[in-house]
Amino acid sequence: MTNSGSIQSTLQETRKFLPASEFSAQAHISSEEQYQSMWQKAKDDPAGFWGELSQELQWITPWKEVISGEMPETRWFTGGQINACENCVDRHLTSWRRNKAAILWEGEPGDTRVLTYNDLHREVSKFANVLKKLGVNTGDRVTLYMPMIPELAIAMLACARIGATHSIIFGGFSADAVADRNNDAQAKIIVTADGGWRRGKEVPLKSAVDESLTKSHTVQKVVVVRRTGQQVHMQTDRDYWWHDLMSDVDPHCDVVPLDSEHPLFILYTSGSTGKPKGVMHTTAGYLLGTTMTSRWVFDLKEEDTYWCTADIGWITGHSYVVYGPLSNGSTVVMYEGAPNWPDEGRFWEIIEKYRVSIFYTAPTAIRAFIKWGDHWPQSRDLSSLRLLGSVGEPINPEAWMWYHRMIGQERCPIVDTWWQTETGAIMISPLPGISATKPGSCTRPLPGVVPEIVSKEGTPLEANEGGLLVMKQPWPSMLRTLYGDHERFKQTYFSTIEGAYFAGDGARRDADGDIWVMGRVDDVLNVSGHRLSTMEVESSLVAHPAVAEAAVVGFPHEIKGEGICCFVTLKTADSEGSDSLTADLIQHVRKQIGALATPDKIRYTAALPKTRSGKIMRRLLRDIAAGRESVQDTTTLEDLSILAKLRDSDDA
Ligand code: WT7
Repeated sequence: MTNSGSIQSTLQETRKFLPASEFSAQAHISSEEQYQSMWQKAKDDPAGFWGELSQELQWITPWKEVISGEMPETRWFTGGQINACENCVDRHLTSWRRNKAAILWEGEPGDTRVLTYNDLHREVSKFANVLKKLGVNTGDRVTLYMPMIPELAIAMLACARIGATHSIIFGGFSADAVADRNNDAQAKIIVTADGGWRRGKEVPLKSAVDESLTKSHTVQKVVVVRRTGQQVHMQTDRDYWWHDLMSDVDPHCDVVPLDSEHPLFILYTSGSTGKPKGVMHTTAGYLLGTTMTSRWVFDLKEEDTYWCTADIGWITGHSYVVYGPLSNGSTVVMYEGAPNWPDEGRFWEIIEKYRVSIFYTAPTAIRAFIKWGDHWPQSRDLSSLRLLGSVGEPINPEAWMWYHRMIGQERCPIVDTWWQTETGAIMISPLPGISATKPGSCTRPLPGVVPEIVSKEGTPLEANEGGLLVMKQPWPSMLRTLYGDHERFKQTYFSTIEGAYFAGDGARRDADGDIWVMGRVDDVLNVSGHRLSTMEVESSLVAHPAVAEAAVVGFPHEIKGEGICCFVTLKTADSEGSDSLTADLIQHVRKQIGALATPDKIRYTAALPKTRSGKIMRRLLRDIAAGRESVQDTTTLEDLSILAKLRDSDDA
């Protein structure tokens, strides 16, 4: 386990917070009995439960069967036809909602745009026609590598409209990462921007795309949004400006009827090996999962102004900036830039300005807010807020309490939502109208989610025993495969525990039945709520000419949750690298993977501690990285002097 610090602190956490009765009275799920009966029905008769709920979506052809096949080959709503774009856009045009704001967008420099559902429909239809003109057909993959601008949501929905499968790559990833993902998905087109704004600087997206295209040859055309106005290279017959293409295109585009299981998107995420996994989600089940959880967990109402601060490049942005809330006809706030630009009060300024009522962010951000000081939120009017959410990593009780007091003003329920790229939608979370929340617990499973905490052998554990968090029943928004590697899909998620889904987290259930997720039990790091595999960083390091061997581990980091510590042995005789080599290695990893993989510590060592069978002793390295005196049995160490040396260098 990597998060042992938080296990300790949450074990002692006993505080409980009940929702205000006014909140409960108006909530979508407003009584314990209602939850219990929904949960039981979903468990006993999932086809009946989800079949009924499917009426919340607009179908083109009704489905024939709700669930077919056993996990992991479960298919949902087979025989049905549906279109996600139609559900998120067109169906809101028949009422007054047509002129309701769908997206309230704020750029980092302070420029703003409002798109009503009618505007969104027009822009999406136009861009769908642009894609068609560029040769994109139903089933083709389209890469989106964009800043947080409305065109990103427009491009996603345009893909969904014509059944092209989008593959979004977070703008913080490097050119190499873009090339790898383009190649794996065999993307035909890439949509990007000249750049985006981040802390007052231009993120050079188009030049990264240019570089990626020297290594990814399936991409035929590039569409470029002009955002920052910086100089970019435009290659004739390959690169096109978004505004040129949009200036002369039919604003009408019929939605394409798609099978329920039509691939909606691929999203790459880190696993415990070096190669990112292309998590594939399909249309109907994903849409139903995100639609219902948005309503249950965020208690979305017609008049809410909802802001999820995640970048659309992550699953949180896919599900809870775009598909979930728009399917519900909500108004979402979308912000382009950093939380501390031009100053540390930017988020609170946005909440005050738009009168945000639901705010969903990550523990790493909350810890940064705490550090920046209470005067920032205190100087803004946050009275519009009625619900707060947290996602991405276990939230430490101190951060939870600060969020509750300072931002929620002890009035707003906090939903600590546990889920994953693979689960598509929130799985375990308080329901804001009924749950007694506890700082650090994501509490109970949503209807349709049947978790269990088991030992490595698969035996169910008693209350308060830590074990593996698994899912015993399929749910509609679960991943269907890893793109191009169905074997790896089965192996990764369904081979650890017989008959169950397991994706890497450890957890315990307390005596009340509330779940406390303790963090990953595999070699996946959670850095600022972002997933990163230790092997990815290791293979990047060993690709550097000076490096012989590398071992990467996480360590507790005040803001990021987990920091990245790299133990490196060099090819030359000396075990100590110079400061300039350290800077060079850091740059090298950033260039190969992206800024999110920036190592926090590089430590040189003559050799890595290994067992007699040659396995790197990661647990030991984790203890050293964390500055903990290791209690591990080290008798299998190949060379005890290595351990002594690594410890000594700690004092340096
Ligand atoms: C991993 C999934 C989908 C959320 C964004 C991250 C950790 C996520 C929580 C939470 C404790 C959490 C888990 C999970 N995680 N939310 N509320 N409490 N841990 O998605 O990149 O697919 O990462 O994030 O370890 O496995 P992701």
